[in-house]
Amino acid sequence: MNILELTDNRGNIMYNVAIMGATGAVGQVMLELLAERGFPIGELRLLASARSAGKEVEFEGETHTIGELREDSFANIDLVLASAGGSISRKFAPCAIDAGAVVVDNTSAFRMDPSVPLVVPEINPQDLATHAGIIANPNCSTIIMDVVVWPLYRRSRVERIVVSTYQAISGAGARAMEELESQTREVLEGKGARPREMPHQIAFNLFSHNTQIGAEGYCEEEMKMVCETRKMFHDDDIRITPTCVRVPVMRAHSEAVNLEFEEVVDESEAREILAAAPGVEIVDDVEANHFPMPIEASGKDAVLVGRIRNDISRADGRGIDLFISGDQLRKGAALNAIQIAEELVER
Ligand code: A2P
Repeated sequence: MNILELTDNRGNIMYNVAIMGATGAVGQVMLELLAERGFPIGELRLLASARSAGKEVEFEGETHTIGELREDSFANIDLVLASAGGSISRKFAPCAIDAGAVVVDNTSAFRMDPSVPLVVPEINPQDLATHAGIIANPNCSTIIMDVVVWPLYRRSRVERIVVSTYQAISGAGARAMEELESQTREVLEGKGARPREMPHQIAFNLFSHNTQIGAEGYCEEEMKMVCETRKMFHDDDIRITPTCVRVPVMRAHSEAVNLEFEEVVDESEAREILAAAPGVEIVDDVEANHFPMPIEASGKDAVLVGRIRNDISRADGRGIDLFISGDQLRKGAALNAIQIAEELVER
């Protein structure tokens, strides 16, 4: 990092931080988390499109003005947290690196580039050592699944994952979140739905994930779960078949996950492993029928896991089923990016 000789009044090193996409759904949570976690910020530079330039944002009692993202926006910046879309990252990340900054990129632009580490700190922090200016933050559904699967994988290699997602609207951005709210109201008022950000009515409905379906019949979101998991686990042979679905939920993704292990893994052992896993919280109250729910995962750092059970469709004891809920804007995006930044600072 382009560490400046900037320190606070206790001599701690401070970092100049820019947020690309500061007005977006993820950008706003990044701001919230930087304050909440006390990230050592010297200068904070908030960048968005020309549409937002001049808008004012409060951060820790100070007013910051949004600046228009430009190629020369990064002078004296140490760290860029990027969440303004893939094409914007492709265009501006090189400018930030040329200016001496490290970029933690939330978009899919560089994730599968072999020279770019793709990191979840609970899974593969060691991969950070090889970065050359950009670290990619994985896809939200991938992070939320893998933070739970990885500790089990370490006990016994997972040969195959069958996963169905129930994805919140926050993954499609702030305007899509507004659409869910206003559309719900319009439908209740009998006005009918007029989808704008989403391809279909989302209020009182659900639909297959709105990314392009490829040659093999899987959409881009599904293939991200396959390819990114393989990259982070350093396991090109793990077999994964996802089905990704958008549901009318504001900001936490849920996932039903079936795991097939190489060895026998008992339900009670899985429970023990998950109870000790970082970034994971068990919510599995069978008596009260209380399991992970997006409404309870929202605003939380931990990914909730429950419905932990042996797969009764197999006689060999090598299957476990789980139900997961995790905040898409926190662990699925902003929190993971800031944890990466914290790791970089520690190193
Ligand atoms: P703006 O609010 O000015 O459009 P979300 O994922 O919630 O849709 O947010 C996307 C973020 O990316 C917003 O902060 C948005 O800024 C920003 N953004 C979108 N297009 C551009 C662009 N061409 N240049 C800079 N920032 C952009």
